[in-house]
Amino acid sequence: MEKVKIFDTTLRDGEQTPRVSLNMNDKVMIAKQLEKLGVDIIEAGFPISSDGDYEAVKAVSEAVENVTVCALARCNKKDIDRAAEALINAKHPRIHVFIATSDIHLKYKLKMSKEQCVEKAVEMVAYAKTLVDDIQFSAEDASRSDKDFLVEIFEKVIEAGATTINVPDTVGYAQPNEYYDLLNYVITNTKNSDKATFSVHCHDDLGISTANALSGVKAGARQVECTVNGIGERAGNSSLEEIAMILDTRSNYYNVTTNIVTTEIYKTSKLISAITGVSIAKNKSVVGENCFLHESGIHQDGILKNRETYEIMNPDKVGIPKNNGLVLGKHSGRHAFNAFLKQHGFEMEEEEIQKYFIKFKELTDKKKYVTIDDITSLVGELPYNENYKFHSYTSSNNDDGTATVYLNILHGNDLITKRAIGNGQIDAAFNALNSIVDKEIEVLDFEINAVSSLSNALGEAKVLLKLGDNEISTSGLDLDIIKASIQAYVQGINKFGI
Ligand code: KIV
Ligand code: ZN
Repeated sequence: MEKVKIFDTTLRDGEQTPRVSLNMNDKVMIAKQLEKLGVDIIEAGFPISSDGDYEAVKAVSEAVENVTVCALARCNKKDIDRAAEALINAKHPRIHVFIATSDIHLKYKLKMSKEQCVEKAVEMVAYAKTLVDDIQFSAEDASRSDKDFLVEIFEKVIEAGATTINVPDTVGYAQPNEYYDLLNYVITNTKNSDKATFSVHCHDDLGISTANALSGVKAGARQVECTVNGIGERAGNSSLEEIAMILDTRSNYYNVTTNIVTTEIYKTSKLISAITGVSIAKNKSVVGENCFLHESGIHQDGILKNRETYEIMNPDKVGIPKNNGLVLGKHSGRHAFNAFLKQHGFEMEEEEIQKYFIKFKELTDKKKYVTIDDITSLVGELPYNENYKFHSYTSSNNDDGTATVYLNILHGNDLITKRAIGNGQIDAAFNALNSIVDKEIEVLDFEINAVSSLSNALGEAKVLLKLGDNEISTSGLDLDIIKASIQAYVQGINKFGI
């Protein structure tokens, strides 16, 4: 069977998820897990977009061995030079250059004629080829572009050195049959198409990005671009776990295989949810909590007689833990905790492990059973400099509907106490924190979730904070949701480096 390459863009298009921002440590940790998952290419970022992204692509290039690391660039020398610099230490570097090809983008965004667009694309692919051998070209908004224009530009960029040709459905507009026809048309009519791998990249605006990507595979595409948990710009991208499990479960239909180690899927999905703060819907295909639960009596009866009556995939194959996540408890020691972290893709220095071990022990004092979800949420609160630490609080609701909080925060060895009023206890606590650090931090987004469905579940507070031009998302975890919210905010203050 032929191989389909999995091009993971969680760190680039996935990071374009509204309100997700990944720092260098986040990206390195995710990249190491993606390598274990068996993806062929990691798109690590868009180096010209910020110094942080440049540093992250550089760090990812140094952290992985066996996987291609790709950096995105528009069709200009500055972008391409920055991408090449960031990839300098990558064992297998790839530069991904893109330009829009649809009439609407050419006219309104680029203000370019088709001739100018081809000329620019060819010139920049040839330039990138002088820096790195592995060059990918994307025709942004390809699904709304003129087919013959795509054929023309693809033929010329392949001549100029592109070895992967990506045909994105940038705005999630295509329908599966249409997208099949498009891929079939460009592969058949581009004279030198045998010199390149054709690739699909689909967005989920109408909820069919996975179906579209797989139609492209049916038509001959041999690279699929996707993100873990389907995160990404607007409604997101085709989800890696769906693509991988469809190609595995229905290999008899697609006649292709991938290098994905499916047993690493669940762990990767949890890790990315913990780091990005993007929760996984219970009914999310493949990795959602409900995927392997059976509610109806008829179904339960069938499953007990033979799993295959109502299950097309085996949860073991996706790496879902058998015992519903009861892994560590009060008596688990540092060794077990350390092994657990490693097993779940959290690579950390000794000092950080120790920090999380203390938090884990605090948790086992409050909660008899600690689940995988508890621990991944706990560790999702990545290392930061703890200038400020939560100490304690008391609160009361006032008759006028407001609440008053007395908050005690440690700053080094100093205990700072502040009283503040707000619309509810959490708002009051956040006001107290702003007054302690004397900053106008804004809350852009705030969410509280129970980490498991038991009544003694930990509450996870996720908060997106803004200070000046900086946005930071953090989380806090506790049985007490007000404390979890305060901890998330305090962590944000520390991450801002206040
Ligand atoms: O959606 C898109 O077109 C993209 C390109 C940069 C490949 O993300
Ligand atoms: Zn995209």
